[in-house]
Amino acid sequence: MPPLEYQSDAAEAASSVLTSKYLSRPTIFVNGSKVSTSSLTPTTTLADWLRASGLTGTKIGCAEGGCGACTVMVSRFDPGFKRVVHRSVNACLFPAAAAHWAQVTTVEGIGSVKTELNPVQQRMVDAHGSQCGYCTPGIVMAMYTMYRENPELPVSEVEEHLDGNLCRCTGYRPIWDAAKSLCHDAGDGDRHGPCGESCSTCPERDECEIEQLHLSGGHSVTEENNASGCGCGGHDKKTNVCTSSAAKFKHDPKFSKSYKDLAPEELPFPEELKGAPPPFYMSNASATCTWFCPTSLDDLLRLKSLFPQARVIVGNTEVGIEQKFKGARYAQLISGANIPELSSTTSTPTSYTFGACAPLTDVSKFCEADEGAVPQAFHNMLRWFASTQIRNTASLAGNLATASPISDMNPMLAASDAVMTVRSERAGERSIKVSEFFLAYRKTALAADEIIVSVTVPKAQQYEYILPFKQAKRREDDISIVTAGIRVRLAPAPDSSGWIVTDSGFGWGGMAARTVGAPLTSDFLLNKPWTAETITAARAKLAEDLPLPDSVPGGQPEYRRALASSFLFKFFVATSVSLASDIAPSQTPLPPPPIIQETDKSASQSFVTDPKPSMTGTQTYPAPKITPGLEDDAPFAAQEPKSKPSKAGAGLPETHASGALHCTGEAKYTDDISLPVGTLQGVLIHSTEAGCDLKSIDTTAASKMPGVHRVIVHADLEKLGGNNKLGPIVKDEEVFCTKRVKTVGQVLGVVCADTLEQAQMAAKAVKVEYENFDATCIVTIDQAIKAKSFYEMTDHTILAGGDVEAAMAVEDAVTVEGKFRVGGQEHFYLETMSTLCVPTEDNDGMTVYCSTQAVTKTQTFCASAAGLPMNKVVAKMKRMGGGFGGKETRTVFVSAACAVGAKATGRPVRVTLDRNVDMQTTGQRHAFVAEYRAAAKKMEDGTVKLLALDVDLYSNGGCGLDLSGPVMDRALFHVDASYNWGAVRAHGIVCKTAQAPHTAYRGFGGPQGIIVGEHIMDRLAHRAGVSREKLREDNFYKEGERTHFNQLIEPKTWNVPKAFSDVRASVDYEGRVAACTKFNSENRWRKRGVAVLPTKFGIAFTAKFTNQGGALVHLYQDGTVLISHGGTEMGQGLHTKMCQVAATAFEIPVSKVFIDDTSSDKVANTIPTAASQGTDIYGMACLDGCRQILKRLKPFRDKLGPNATLAEVATAAFFARVDLSAHGFFTISDARCGYDWTLPMEERGQAFNYFTQGAAFSEVEVDVLTGDHRVIRSDCVVDVGSSINPAIDIGQIEGAFVQGMGWSTTEELIWGDEEHEWVRPKGRLHTSGPGFYKPPAFNDMPETFNVSLMDGVANKFAVMSSKAIGEPPFFLGSTVFFALQDALLAARKDGGGGGDGDEKEFVLMHPATSERIRMSCCDDIAQDAGATAQFQAKGSY
Ligand SMILES: Cc1cc2nc3c(=O)[nH]c(=O)nc-3n(C[C@H](O)[C@H](O)[C@H](O)COP(=O)(O)OP(=O)(O)OC[C@H]3O[C@@H](n4cnc5c(N)ncnc54)[C@H](O)[C@@H]3O)c2cc1C
Ligand code: FES
Ligand code: FES
Repeated sequence: MPPLEYQSDAAEAASSVLTSKYLSRPTIFVNGSKVSTSSLTPTTTLADWLRASGLTGTKIGCAEGGCGACTVMVSRFDPGFKRVVHRSVNACLFPAAAAHWAQVTTVEGIGSVKTELNPVQQRMVDAHGSQCGYCTPGIVMAMYTMYRENPELPVSEVEEHLDGNLCRCTGYRPIWDAAKSLCHDAGDGDRHGPCGESCSTCPERDECEIEQLHLSGGHSVTEENNASGCGCGGHDKKTNVCTSSAAKFKHDPKFSKSYKDLAPEELPFPEELKGAPPPFYMSNASATCTWFCPTSLDDLLRLKSLFPQARVIVGNTEVGIEQKFKGARYAQLISGANIPELSSTTSTPTSYTFGACAPLTDVSKFCEADEGAVPQAFHNMLRWFASTQIRNTASLAGNLATASPISDMNPMLAASDAVMTVRSERAGERSIKVSEFFLAYRKTALAADEIIVSVTVPKAQQYEYILPFKQAKRREDDISIVTAGIRVRLAPAPDSSGWIVTDSGFGWGGMAARTVGAPLTSDFLLNKPWTAETITAARAKLAEDLPLPDSVPGGQPEYRRALASSFLFKFFVATSVSLASDIAPSQTPLPPPPIIQETDKSASQSFVTDPKPSMTGTQTYPAPKITPGLEDDAPFAAQEPKSKPSKAGAGLPETHASGALHCTGEAKYTDDISLPVGTLQGVLIHSTEAGCDLKSIDTTAASKMPGVHRVIVHADLEKLGGNNKLGPIVKDEEVFCTKRVKTVGQVLGVVCADTLEQAQMAAKAVKVEYENFDATCIVTIDQAIKAKSFYEMTDHTILAGGDVEAAMAVEDAVTVEGKFRVGGQEHFYLETMSTLCVPTEDNDGMTVYCSTQAVTKTQTFCASAAGLPMNKVVAKMKRMGGGFGGKETRTVFVSAACAVGAKATGRPVRVTLDRNVDMQTTGQRHAFVAEYRAAAKKMEDGTVKLLALDVDLYSNGGCGLDLSGPVMDRALFHVDASYNWGAVRAHGIVCKTAQAPHTAYRGFGGPQGIIVGEHIMDRLAHRAGVSREKLREDNFYKEGERTHFNQLIEPKTWNVPKAFSDVRASVDYEGRVAACTKFNSENRWRKRGVAVLPTKFGIAFTAKFTNQGGALVHLYQDGTVLISHGGTEMGQGLHTKMCQVAATAFEIPVSKVFIDDTSSDKVANTIPTAASQGTDIYGMACLDGCRQILKRLKPFRDKLGPNATLAEVATAAFFARVDLSAHGFFTISDARCGYDWTLPMEERGQAFNYFTQGAAFSEVEVDVLTGDHRVIRSDCVVDVGSSINPAIDIGQIEGAFVQGMGWSTTEELIWGDEEHEWVRPKGRLHTSGPGFYKPPAFNDMPETFNVSLMDGVANKFAVMSSKAIGEPPFFLGSTVFFALQDALLAARKDGGGGGDGDEKEFVLMHPATSERIRMSCCDDIAQDAGATAQFQAKGSY
């Protein structure tokens, strides 16, 4: 879009008269110092500005306000209250210019590893609150701002306000622990030691020695203590080992202290900023955009009359998005945030008046403090409006003027009969009813030069009720699917028989192209009795008011219709209940309220009005110990391994090696690296179509744009002598497209320019033409099956256990058959793909810094694309902000393009993908479709025995093979779940579609396989009429049996049955089932369900050659150790564990071991860090290196004696010319890995080294009327062998569980496909940012979340008897899915389902979104909206 010019010279001249009294620059303080604002432009965001100034602790995870990684604190002086007000904001949306007359505090400003950590940072470190650390600075700042604003913060406030940050790694529990432990009223559940005693009330807290005990290996307790135990309740007097679990911070006496007790001296607020802010204005260099910051309403009106097309900016939460994602450019931006008249909020006896530009937080606080029905309703809606950070800046005016059809506050205001006051210089002041303000899609009755000044809302009268309703995919920080405000005024009927409606008001969002009312319903209700019958009839009227066509943009027409009707019903029940309690105390006789059956009262409950739940959890692990494992093969084989208590190094719950750096923002990620002089910014050019040929690419105009150095396409790559082919197994992708465009977002070239903005503009200016479109663009698995669009080489079958057909035909066999769909999943690592390529001095080589799990692949493909030999390219990786498999292969196309850019320009080039580009182009977890038949038979002893399984698995591989073949293989290996199925035919093939190539994702096809197996188990159990648990227990593999892929269940290795029974016992499973049944019988509209499931997950890469790894160990003369190994650190704690392993080997403290980065010039020819195997492989490789050195040191140790320090021994060896470096190497033995599909079944080999195992329980509650759900409790019992670091392992379990839960519930990918015609072009990913794609948020964690590690489960196949842990627990999150299915069966039993046989036929497709939950309930309301008993919501598979 060409830049807009000023309206006229006259306007410009007039504005200069006005602004002559204005400052020409904003005044901003950052971390206590006044800073230069000379680099600011009107559109620079605060995040970009801070990062450009070197404050890279402020991260950018999404740039759209949806992840909180960019959170900083903005503090201003409030002259009214004479105090400084601190607010957290999303720096990615907050214009830097809007920080005028404020102090900005970033994570670097509150503490540092170089000085001292702030208590919030320290608590996060101690509580293991960071894994990859990319979300951490934002979370720290969100918490810190709360404590700064209120050092005596109560727990309830924290629970309400951690809603604007996402963490993809931790599962949130440790962050909740850290946050709540600092609250002044932290109670037993929030701040306690392993003894369970609250630290705040514990009489021994000051002398609590437990921390010391754990640090020193557990048990150097005093005799006295030993006699009585250390007081923690877990002290085992026999072993002198503390068996209690808890992170060590819980034993710190300081843990009993709140933020107020610990608060350091904070940076003073600048005196200079305590006066009223002066106005200012500034323009960008080309004078195409000017920012005005008036401080009086008159000035604002003047400016708006001079520039009617100008945007008024308050929170910038809409305008920022328009500018970033919709290409909007405005010549004038006028801040409305500094005008006192627009921000004040008042009340009179009859009304409330809200300043239109008051931050929503202020509006909400004002409402919370007032007990009236209207403010309470507003406050409740605002609690769920976006996030704390957004509400801290966004305004009602912004919500109104934007006129979004899914706005939350506009329907509330319309329903409450609110009236806006608007004003212009031209026409003065006028009033507009909110209900009449919205004319059409994003069109309002506001004239171009008018400003919204305030909104006035009448107070509710007696017996007048108003409630907010909102349903989205996720509770916190999500835009609504349907939202509403509903109001009714009741009065006694003239004949006193009951109550009648004297007035009503409706506002609806998500039901039309604008906020609408329900006039027919309102008319109908007038003077009608307030009864269930009236509401049933009113629902029919409502359907007339809100006619939603089946083809409605956004989809979900049946669900949206059902929600509208359900909200009305919920409103009726809730108000009737309120009416009953309101009239109860009345002295005067009043008519009776409507009779609501006890079971129906459950309809009145809603998460919108309920307090947010408290999240708690316990973590239990055996006493820290070291158990010999694979490294000590001989003694292990001869006898049971003997553990010894861990004194240092392995076995202890050490905090993450980079924890403090994460929490202070000092940890550097690829995009944070200080750029070498002359670095160019690279932006990829992407296709906007799929399934066609590239006709032409015209780069002429783009090449001539300011700041552009090169626009490079495939022809340029060829001229450089580069190889355009890419692909980890089959090279079926290109660096830059040559002809066939297979997917939307395919890379066509790269622009290298001085600035990011210049590169982005130029990439948009490249003219691309397409031709020869496919008649059908195959996007889904169903389409691919129909067209036989497969990757034939992935076609694999497993046959085992005899004749499947014969087994199916057994007399009296119970059989099931069907189709089950499993959704894909976006990795949503918080740090998007990022690469920096720095050419060597002669441009004949380069160093590649990259956020990747695969250093060697990066080196290989950067070298080949840039036409360089591998020995001239060094690939380096310090740390990733999350990977989860997404950075195993899919980083390579970004890095290769970047390398070509660097080679072509001879300058360093950096490419960092925007979140939406990352999501569209980098691929996800594969969606699956399973077609299956299975049989079982009831035996005479009452057991039900599985007979046969016949399953065809199809995955959506996208347009490139990537790793889809092995992913499908792993699904085939895991489709048995944990059961012996008898005869098995399992076949899988990958579908070729127009989606981006799908790839590795935590579990690598395993979870998809297991969930299919468990789905079939549930159906068989229902069909056979036995309990789900019994069927499972009866059919668990037994030691000595073989899996369907012929792997022996080896003796003393099979812990699934025990984990299953342990978890059942620990939760009192039978008791909880009975409690659920009782609850369900008492509540018609809320249903509970439970599920308990096992998991076994095979550990090893199935391709033999990948089971190898190396490590370089250097011992220095001061006794410190430096390790470099082939594994990469993505948050999983690999480096921490490696330091522990090396520390144990050398018998030195962990602090003496250091790992810097992973680099292809230190350890060459590495395999990607994946398959959960990092510790298994590199632990052994490190030990190998350490032991080589120790062997060489032995003569010196012998000579110097046991008391000599390692430094002394090393120094002596050095002077004797002994090499103190060693390269360790490890391969998994040939017999224990490598599966060859080309051989007959019996000869294919052993797929896995061993299985990590476990079981989990979940209990959920659903709101039948809305599809909302809560996870009441989840418990996991996991066999991780003898843990090298129990805190890290528990962190992996919690994180994987919550990620698995997200996969099974809120995380739904929507593509432009047959089921979503409204998404165009075909093959485009609609859910390409946190706005539409919803990983679990803080509030989604199980409310009680208990994790325990099994004891006595050694593993002789891995280092120190540990087990791999990254992926195995992921599937356990799906217990939430099966518990939801259980709850839905209960709902369907109450009506609407398929009657008695329902559970045999009911299929809940995956994921269980709010839509699937609601529509599966299939009650009358859902049926009226279009659902049938077999209704399936649309989905993308
Ligand atoms: C992550 C995220 C989550 C969100 N979640 C929700 C949600 O849950 N519910 C919801 O309803 N919305 C949501 N939104 C949308 C947005 O936050 C709201 O619409 C908010 O109210 C906009 O206010 P603002 O002050 O930021 O508007 P701005 O972006 O500053 O301005 C928006 C528009 O309003 C105009 N305007 C502002 N003030 C005036 C005035 N006084 N007179 C005339 N015109 C004016 C501007 O010119 C502009 O056109 C979300 C946005 C984001 C980024
Ligand atoms: S980067 Fe700002 S919220 Fe995600
Ligand atoms: S630690 Fe939170 S995203 Fe990685």
